[in-house]
Amino acid sequence: MASLTVRQLDERLKKLLRLRAAKSGRSVEDEVRTILRAAAEDTGSEAPETGNPPSQPPRRPASAPAGAKRVLLIVGGGIAAYKSLDLIRRLKERGLAVRCILTKAAEHFVTPLSAAAIVGERIFTDLFDASSEFDVGHIRLARETDLIVVAPATADLMAKMAGGLAPDLATAVLLAAGTKILLAPAMNPYMWANKATQRNLAQLVADGVALIGPGEGEMAEAGERGTGRMAEPLEIAAAVERLLASETAQPLKGTCVLVTSGPTHEPIDPVRYIANRSSGKQGHAIAAAAARAGAAVTLVSGPVNLPDPPGVAVVHVETAREMLQAVERALPVDVAIFAAAVADWRVASASEQKIKKKAGRATPELSLTENPDILSTVAHRKSQRPQLVIGFAAETENVAANAKAKLASKGCDWILANDVSPSTGIMGGDRNTIELVTATAIEPWPPQSKEDVAKMLVARVANALAK
Ligand code: CTP
Repeated sequence: MASLTVRQLDERLKKLLRLRAAKSGRSVEDEVRTILRAAAEDTGSEAPETGNPPSQPPRRPASAPAGAKRVLLIVGGGIAAYKSLDLIRRLKERGLAVRCILTKAAEHFVTPLSAAAIVGERIFTDLFDASSEFDVGHIRLARETDLIVVAPATADLMAKMAGGLAPDLATAVLLAAGTKILLAPAMNPYMWANKATQRNLAQLVADGVALIGPGEGEMAEAGERGTGRMAEPLEIAAAVERLLASETAQPLKGTCVLVTSGPTHEPIDPVRYIANRSSGKQGHAIAAAAARAGAAVTLVSGPVNLPDPPGVAVVHVETAREMLQAVERALPVDVAIFAAAVADWRVASASEQKIKKKAGRATPELSLTENPDILSTVAHRKSQRPQLVIGFAAETENVAANAKAKLASKGCDWILANDVSPSTGIMGGDRNTIELVTATAIEPWPPQSKEDVAKMLVARVANALAK
């Protein structure tokens, strides 16, 4: 059977074909096949073979309603790839239009035929598809989707993504992607814990890639246990739904939000400082969530070991006084959220030289002076007071009562109170338990991740602004 090369057609014909394909929502290659099939049926002959299954299904799987969100699933080569077939089913159950790329390594675990049977559409495997004229190149695959899911995301795929390498179709699509990417890592616990993988992970998170898992449990290798199990298909499908919803819902669009985060460092001399245990995780999560919700976000951050959240303007400061200055420069804003653990005191006169210990000399005494209260200063402003001023209360006892007193003394609208006693693991940890204190109520929130606290707060802020 002769093969037809679309690229060799003249430019005008190609343009007409492209227009026709765009109108019918098909690829050029599908469009050609449709035309040929119709022509062949007109003359009573069989549709010509093109190297693809004879009855090419429509580009959108039949089960996906018109206007359905599109998910591109990239299956990496790991034992967890066997779960990808169930994942496709779960995504389709949710009315999503699914396309699928298998890496070469993935084909050792899942065949294109079995994946195609569940997707209801051809599976993509090659960057250079020499045998056919499929006009669904990597750029279109990357563009024609609302979310890319990599499951399992192997250490190798993550390394290539972090380094911007694109040796095959999957990585070329990931490099060309303009949409959100969700990774479901799966690998041996030693590979996951390896410094190189953790470095790549930190880079990918800094690049704005979302993660689900990995979890803990038994590995495929006998007797191996640890972190590296791919999240279950139902968990991944739920994360996909959340991401798709948050990508479209931008309730803070047009709003300016200011967030403070992290500790401050107050110098004693050029090498020593007073600090606290704040990690900045909560403040950074709030800034990221507000940016995802469409706000223009300025984050004033003390010294932290966290990447700058994507899409956020970050001002790095050291001391409380620098933080106040940066905050005042960022005004006016609609909403200000003060999550930083600002040092209440600084050394009255920090030494310009390193304080030396000398035999016979008395231990130096530090004389402290109070730092400006940034939250209170902004909340009590006569001009440019943000519409909503939100503080935190870090307490170790009488949490709600102390937070209520802070709400009044600082003049803010809401306080998110949390118990930072060492036993709670909140300071520096990944989870938080909040009581939202307003002028009229105290509302306990469930224990949850700092990211979920951030999302809940952003939703509350959006509601309050909409009233
Ligand atoms: N805060 C601030 N500037 C300060 C101290 C605190 O902006 N100099 C803000 C924090 O960012 C937080 C709120 O005030 O939003 C409460 O901080 P917290 O540390 O709980 O209380 P303090 O005001 O420091 O009072 P105390 O240490 O007595 O609990």
